Amino acid sequence: DCISSRRIMKLPGLIDVHVHVREPGATHKEDWASCSAAALAGGVTLICAMPNTQPPTTDLDALTLTKELADRGSRCDFAVFLGASSNNHTTLPELAPRAAALKMYLNETFTTLRLHDTTIWLKHLESWPPHLPVCVHAEGQTTAAALMMAHLAGRPIHVCHVALREEVLLIRSAKEKGMAVTCEVCPHHLFLTSDDLEHLGLKGEVRPRLASPADQQALWDNLDIIDCFATDHAPHTLEEKSGLQPPPGFPGLETMLPLLLTAVTQGKLSMEDLVNKLHHNPRRIFHLPRQPRTYIEVDLDAQWTIPESPPFSKARWTPFAGRKVTGRVQRVVLRGEMAYVDGQVLVPPGFGEDVRETQPLSPAPVQPVAPPTFAAPLQYSMAANITLPLPP
Ligand code: NCD
Ligand code: ZN
Ligand code: ZN
Ligand code: ZN
Repeated sequence: DCISSRRIMKLPGLIDVHVHVREPGATHKEDWASCSAAALAGGVTLICAMPNTQPPTTDLDALTLTKELADRGSRCDFAVFLGASSNNHTTLPELAPRAAALKMYLNETFTTLRLHDTTIWLKHLESWPPHLPVCVHAEGQTTAAALMMAHLAGRPIHVCHVALREEVLLIRSAKEKGMAVTCEVCPHHLFLTSDDLEHLGLKGEVRPRLASPADQQALWDNLDIIDCFATDHAPHTLEEKSGLQPPPGFPGLETMLPLLLTAVTQGKLSMEDLVNKLHHNPRRIFHLPRQPRTYIEVDLDAQWTIPESPPFSKARWTPFAGRKVTGRVQRVVLRGEMAYVDGQVLVPPGFGEDVRETQPLSPAPVQPVAPPTFAAPLQYSMAANITLPLPP
């Protein structure tokens, strides 16, 4: 390559608020050591781990187990989600300060945690501390129902992996009305469509499904109301994905930043927007602390082809194989330590810190979280009768 034209840029450590680490329960798919190595290789220094593990993270015992495994295994910093079940809405709020956020699964996906009954949704939305995030897996019309229930509870809500035109336009309308709704979009919905199922075959199974080119275009057209990019890194092995009933999900940590840097080079996205959606907005929405002496360096001119099997995730495949990208992660410095340089992960399992233990959240409300990327004023206030949990 042309050394003389190399532009190296320093960016803050990226934050991925939607990662399926798979440990405990499915360490053949991924574990904390491999997942956090993939994160660092992708320029991600802080991950929020989803609760659809085995056991699912729905009570104190499971949270304690997951945090112990993460403490021992993670090379990057992390926080751990709690999962809403049909009977844990009274016990979760006191655990909230030690969790990344609350996750509610409202549609069918790779989990046992799906909630059918809207009265249960409302119980969770009313009892979870109002200033801490609630994230929902909600697709299509379910998104409208979820926003309605959050509105009834008078609290903010974060919509995961927005994929459809219908969803993004609904969220735009809600923001215009001043609702405290935030959302994330995944690289696979920005860079793949249902047309790609022709070559991906059944491996292309993911929830939400790959959508039409018109849906994809709507995401790009409405980037101004998208608060975060998040991978929804959902590793399943090549063997599992090659069967006749493959589980839904794509690995994404090692490929997100190169794909987005390519979009920057193509003029589809500004670097400022990239940093807002992968650092500033995730920090603000999830009340995540600053990681001191932490940054990444990217080579904006490096051109390469995404391989069949990115080196660090145990998934051993990627839906982006063969794609030419411009931009690569050169080094990652995490809390003053050289964590990744030129293809090598240099920090061991256990180097990562649980940011909710090193900097626990106050269980008392701080500020209501206003939509960070939209200027409309908040037209309603938080419900006054929300019961706050006692400090742990
Ligand atoms: C996720 C998984 O495998 O855990 N799968 C997926 O298709 N996205 C679950 C989820 O995020 O819905
Ligand atoms: Zn050259
Ligand atoms: Zn989901
Ligand atoms: Zn997910």
